[in-house]
Amino acid sequence: MYRILRKQALSENIKLMEIEAPLVARNAKAGQFIILRVDEKGERIPLTIADFNKEKGTITIIFAEVGYTTQKLGCLNEGDAVLDFVGPLGHESEIDNFGHVVCIGGGVGIAPMFPITRELYKAGNRVTSIIGARCKDLLFWEEEMRAVSQTLHVTTDDGSYGRHGFVTQVLQEMIDQGEKIDLVYAIGPLPMMRAVAEVTRPYGIKTIVSLNSIMVDGTGMCGACRVTVGGETKFTCVDGPEFDGHLVDFAEQMRRAQIFKDEEARARAAGSC
Ligand code: FES
Repeated sequence: MYRILRKQALSENIKLMEIEAPLVARNAKAGQFIILRVDEKGERIPLTIADFNKEKGTITIIFAEVGYTTQKLGCLNEGDAVLDFVGPLGHESEIDNFGHVVCIGGGVGIAPMFPITRELYKAGNRVTSIIGARCKDLLFWEEEMRAVSQTLHVTTDDGSYGRHGFVTQVLQEMIDQGEKIDLVYAIGPLPMMRAVAEVTRPYGIKTIVSLNSIMVDGTGMCGACRVTVGGETKFTCVDGPEFDGHLVDFAEQMRRAQIFKDEEARARAAGSC
């Protein structure tokens, strides 16, 4: 069992949990993810690692309570435990001194963007971060992201905080103003990552996205996490979770994510805390 040492509500439905998992923490690197199962009847869900502390032996996860399992997880409190906590899985992010890197986090995607941004900053890159959410209440870790960026832009879709608009508008303006950008990292909802990839594509700016697909075993055996990248079938759990955003078939990913919407709604209606 993996104990929850700290629980914090970052907004009404976004929760942070620091979980005691020394073996996972010892090996964790920026960009990797874990798969957890709340109890023996639960489904497995993948969550990208938001932070890790090797000394304390803890992994921090941040999740939005949007589905049955994340709602169930959100009902647990400090001192409770989850049954399975497997990881770290997937490839770590490639960290190097690329030059000027733009790190984009959308919604709950700000969480996995944070450790990658921190490592890129530590590696000597000039880091411009752009974080965005639908509204002020859904925005979190602004100060954490500011601490690991030379420049930070904040957007909200409804204009309730920061700049009114989308993260892609800031990115487009930077390009229009002639800013030299060597690499873009984007983590967030699929439509956001697709939009970022479309902004950078005409300029040939390398763009990395992190996919958080439907996963079952996390070992490359079940095929549930397949994604088409550059015309080839890849498995997010073993080949990813990061891929070249210009090669990902986002339309296919969005169709697959849609398939389980009805079942998810029924499951949510059936259970709550
Ligand atoms: Fe089963 Fe990736 S989760 S192959």
